[in-house]
Amino acid sequence: MVGTPAAIRGRLLNFQDDPALAGAADSYQYIEDGLLVLADGRISAVGEARALLPTLPPDALVHHYPDGLVMAGLIDTHVHFPQTQVIASYGAQLLDWLETYTYVEEQKFAAPEHAGRIARFFLDEMCRSGTTTAAVYCTVHPESVAAFFTESARRNMRMVAGKVLMDRNAPVALRDTAERGFTESEALIARWHGKGRQHYAVTPRFALTSTEAQLEAAGALLRAHPDVLLQTHLSENPGEIAMVRKAFPGCRDYVDVYDRYGLLGPRSLFGHCIHLAEAERARLSESGSVAVFCPTSNLFIGSGLFDLALARDARFPLRVGLATDVGGGTSYSMLRTAGEAYKVLQLQGQSLPARQAFYMATLGNARVLGLEDRIGTLAPGTDADVVVLDARATPAMAHRMEVVQGDLENELFVLMTLGDDRNVRATYVAGAIAAGGPESGERQKI
Ligand code: GUN
Ligand code: ZN
Repeated sequence: MVGTPAAIRGRLLNFQDDPALAGAADSYQYIEDGLLVLADGRISAVGEARALLPTLPPDALVHHYPDGLVMAGLIDTHVHFPQTQVIASYGAQLLDWLETYTYVEEQKFAAPEHAGRIARFFLDEMCRSGTTTAAVYCTVHPESVAAFFTESARRNMRMVAGKVLMDRNAPVALRDTAERGFTESEALIARWHGKGRQHYAVTPRFALTSTEAQLEAAGALLRAHPDVLLQTHLSENPGEIAMVRKAFPGCRDYVDVYDRYGLLGPRSLFGHCIHLAEAERARLSESGSVAVFCPTSNLFIGSGLFDLALARDARFPLRVGLATDVGGGTSYSMLRTAGEAYKVLQLQGQSLPARQAFYMATLGNARVLGLEDRIGTLAPGTDADVVVLDARATPAMAHRMEVVQGDLENELFVLMTLGDDRNVRATYVAGAIAAGGPESGERQKI
């Protein structure tokens, strides 16, 4: 069968640590002619092809990509599945963009057929882009979460998702109440969290769309379910920040709003974090919270430039994720996202080595989600979520690659600067083909 090989052969790239901390040479393993042996949806062995091929049973099916770069499936730590028809909406900054475009589309997710259709489209697009795990916002409707997890579970994908909590400052049709949001989240956690490869994230949209009672309820959900995640937005846009100050006059700053209700911590993901004061960075750092960098969104909505050097400040180091934030973001591709991250940093006199960007999109984001023992590397025992990339997918890329032969760092940089879904040769989810796949000549029996 094309879908489930016994092994994948190609150029294996496996991140083992953060290049910014471990140094370039110690952060990854590269095997020019490597083999990933798969069994029951997991990686069972990794190493040189010539050493491992003889261990396979006769007639075992091998997908062989001689030029393909085989790595752990890409991970997106902040994305909105209901915004696939919001992406590329013209001319507004955050608060107007939400009202004019986003809240209009999100109302359609009261209908389960619509939610199901969009969930299927979204997960197809993730797989086409080489993304095998994402932290996903649904809408306020529990039906949208059920539709999403149903589709994700059917594909056996490892996904994190949650029902958006919003009980004020939004159209009536998109509001729950503190109590209803709590009860519906409880029911969704019971139904989906830990079922197969599904994980729940408590998802208050942002401080402005929740009352104090609702933030209190979000904190109670986290206390009752310590292994679920929390995702929300933080400090994205100056107008938003000014309104938060007004809405929560008793709080010192935006981070303090979330802190008061017990929402900070190592399992908490805060989208954007662009305009933070030092005291806010100190609290995020101390609590082990995660700042999620969404470059295409920050450029498109005109929100500002994420300061990665400041996030690495030795006094208050932050854990940092990298994400698309579709549909504020403009691409489903984590390659494209890495390329735009590079430009956002260049504008601030900073840089982003390609190996650092690919670490962030794989093991780094797995660590951010607390899932590094399952995904993000090619380590034996972990899930066989794998992407195969081709840096020569377009004429312009093949042309550029003529002069970077044999130089892995530059190949990765070409991939993140010029690449997108066109460079994804194949995506494997739990060992089975989820998008693309080998040509007939690349399917070999040993
Ligand atoms: N802040 C609150 N909701 C949203 C959203 O849907 N997208 C972005 N980018 N920011 C938000
Ligand atoms: Zn977002």
